[in-house]
Amino acid sequence: MNHFQYRNGVLHAEEVPLPLIAQQVGTPVYVYSQATLERHYKVLDQALDGADHLVCFALKANPSLGVVAALAALGAGADVVSEGEARIAMAAGIAPEKIVFSGVGKTEEELAFALEAGIGQLNLESYEELLELSHIAERLGKKARIALRVNPDVDAGTHAKITTGLKENKFGIEWTQAHNVYKQAMKLPGIEVVGVAVHIGSQLTDLQPFQDAFLRLRDLVAMLKADGIPIRHIDLGGGLGVPYEPGVNETPPLPGDYAKVVKSCVGDLGCKLVFEPGRLLVGNAGILLTRIVRLKEGSVKSFVVVDAGMNDLMRPALYDAYHDIMPVTEPKPGAAKRAVDVVGPICESSDVFAAGRLLPMLYKGELLAFGTAGAYGASMASEYNGRPLIPEVMVKGGQFAVTRPRPSYDSMIAMQRLPDWMG
Ligand code: LLP
Repeated sequence: MNHFQYRNGVLHAEEVPLPLIAQQVGTPVYVYSQATLERHYKVLDQALDGADHLVCFALKANPSLGVVAALAALGAGADVVSEGEARIAMAAGIAPEKIVFSGVGKTEEELAFALEAGIGQLNLESYEELLELSHIAERLGKKARIALRVNPDVDAGTHAKITTGLKENKFGIEWTQAHNVYKQAMKLPGIEVVGVAVHIGSQLTDLQPFQDAFLRLRDLVAMLKADGIPIRHIDLGGGLGVPYEPGVNETPPLPGDYAKVVKSCVGDLGCKLVFEPGRLLVGNAGILLTRIVRLKEGSVKSFVVVDAGMNDLMRPALYDAYHDIMPVTEPKPGAAKRAVDVVGPICESSDVFAAGRLLPMLYKGELLAFGTAGAYGASMASEYNGRPLIPEVMVKGGQFAVTRPRPSYDSMIAMQRLPDWMG
């Protein structure tokens, strides 16, 4: 359920017609719906009712200040993977104690920063990182609250580029080794063991891999507790999928069913449950609004060239991801459709948003909305081909605000310097 719907033949974000945003902010532009965001958070939070829990929004999905602040106001914590994300989370009003710091390559500077800032939990991904952190904590006269991220060797059954829970992936500590590493951790002066963490992949559309991973974790927690290792937090990661093409090739489980699996696997262990959802909260809360630059008839294909490019939304080029494409002017019921390739202006053959997509007759200048663009859209954007990052807009009811203005070309160029010797 989202709040991007047609009203009187025009696609709206909540009560705001998208052509109004296009006119005032220009295109391409990301548009977020605060009501959708809040609804998704509440659905998950309520499904977890009855279990002591904290939902930590994975900022990597969308680190827009407005998005993070809206979730913070509902009580969300944050899952961050860099000092930058941690700083954004705090700037958006999330208390450091409610932040979990994950990531396989945290630098010594970032570990020190996390300790100084009072970050609630550091999820460690290797024995080497544990030793480094203990040294840094001792030096700073602090105790680092840690969880080990365990790699449960479970196939998430998702796209190879976004699966993380297999032995051959770089993530986590192999689950058979974890017990040993915990024993070492207990002896280290700068370390306070608080939990265990797992994350097996993203855009999961089946509950079975979650269940397999959570049950492995359950056994591990029992073993650790029996050994006197004080596990208080179980961090179950993120990964629950969202519908990109409703009813067609992916029908992700409902948060309620996910919560049932969680409770049945680890609900009775007397631990606080931590979650790191990204896509689930923001995926369907955002669209990418773009304008058709021109229609081009190739010898074997018809192209719809839009003003957004793969630098603005990388997912189709990188993962062959499907995004719904909605004409902002509602097509007449039963309108004839034809197969077109919707492409961007980037000088790469992979700059294709949809190939052979059946769409109604379109015209130059028309607005299109790419659906489910709220997660891993803006956050993965770049300035490739000399294109400034595109603006972001937050909508709430009938109001909207630009939360990231479109940079001018001058300000983009001003980010760079010429070496002195080039005058
Ligand atoms: N926790 C950890 C440790 C993660 O690595 C991730 C995602 C999450 C939480 C959040 O996962 P989510 O709930 O959003 O599935 N760029 C890709 C997705 C990469 C996900 C990376 N890790 C995409 O556009 O599909």
